[in-house]
Amino acid sequence: VTKNVSALGGSLLHFDAPEGADVESRVWPLTRWVDERRQRGVWPYSRVLSGRAGNRVVVADENLAGAREYLNYASQDYLGLASDQRILDAAHAAIDEFGVHSAGSPILAGRTTHGVALEAKIAALLGKESAMLFPTGWGAGFSAIAALVRGGDTIVIDALAHNCLQEGARHATRNVVRCVHNDVTSVERALKEARSRNAEGGVFLVTESLFSMDSDSPDLARLGELAREVGAFFILDVAHDFGSMGRTGIGLLEGVATGLMPDLIMGSFSKTFATNGGFIASSRRIREHVRFYGSPYIFSNAISPVQVAVASASFDIVFGDEGTRRRDALVVSVGALRDAMVDSGFEIIGQPSPIVPVFVGDEAVARLTSREMIRSGLQANLVEFPAVPRGRARFRFQVASAHGSAVASRAAKILFEARCLALDEVSSAEYGQP
Ligand SMILES: Cc1ncc(COP(=O)(O)O)c(C=O)c1O
Repeated sequence: VTKNVSALGGSLLHFDAPEGADVESRVWPLTRWVDERRQRGVWPYSRVLSGRAGNRVVVADENLAGAREYLNYASQDYLGLASDQRILDAAHAAIDEFGVHSAGSPILAGRTTHGVALEAKIAALLGKESAMLFPTGWGAGFSAIAALVRGGDTIVIDALAHNCLQEGARHATRNVVRCVHNDVTSVERALKEARSRNAEGGVFLVTESLFSMDSDSPDLARLGELAREVGAFFILDVAHDFGSMGRTGIGLLEGVATGLMPDLIMGSFSKTFATNGGFIASSRRIREHVRFYGSPYIFSNAISPVQVAVASASFDIVFGDEGTRRRDALVVSVGALRDAMVDSGFEIIGQPSPIVPVFVGDEAVARLTSREMIRSGLQANLVEFPAVPRGRARFRFQVASAHGSAVASRAAKILFEARCLALDEVSSAEYGQP
């Protein structure tokens, strides 16, 4: 039986493996804990928008209470395309042309002409023979690994790689080696060990180009070299930087030599391309295999024609001159936020990117800070243990090109004041830490 956990203590890890024969009773402690956090005002999740997500957004809490306008750093729309009139027009035109439904698996009759054209553009941009579209980036990452990796193969994966990659790995094989985050030496050792133990089997290297909790990156060219050296198949998730970073918009792969490029690149449209959806770019034979053995692709309805049209119209802007201008503005907005946070005494980490992780302290301080921040009209996503290490709770600010420096200064001021109030409350109150 799970013990009672206080609103400022505990984490989701207390509730992930409930025991007992009665399912309704054994899942009750989680609801009780969430309710306690709600009552204390420290449950900042599942908030509800009642308008478009821009620099400012009208949001209510999970129960639709307290709707008001916020300064918004909690939405992922890095180049600000989600409300762009040309994108909205593309969505409307797709509805007129195709209706709103793909009406079938992509393996049957779910693909549209726009989707086929977008696949070709993605493949050409990334120097691959082919690409395939998915309704979500999660499905793309999971499918790639689940389809290609056999039980006797080994996966060498960054310890902090995204859930879709970790779950794919867990599903595919028991031979999963989790390497120290972004540590090339640890990867080299694991790859060489895997290859020497199993000369006949497949070895896979799986990581991300920009990590979404720490805003940091591995040495992609070196990883490409190591993969070639041991004959490993290199899978890279470019969800956050593809389109939003680099001079041409290709992201952190820009400048990596053709011969060192990952064998399979997977990405998401949900950060920069204004819609749900994802893709895989690879050789034609890899695509053929994933098409039939990646279950989320074959056994699920295809990405909708509206999503394809939005991704496609966004793609043309992102990889044209306007994309460069928007990325330049994004760099300025990111710099302004990082500077404003440092000036206010906050610790931030990682490299400048659309993700700015701002540390606030342990979980109790962070939860109380989130409450005060919301009271003062600022939204940024609280990330706490177990998504990040215990005691290293942070706000993940997601920056858009149009945020600018005035909004950044205001956000830093609100966060500073919110944290002061939180620290006062923690030092003056007794709270249970189970
Ligand atoms: C690194 C990474 N990979 C994959 C995904 C999944 O993308 P999507 O939101 O398109 O399912 C995300 C988004 O949460 C992500 O951050």
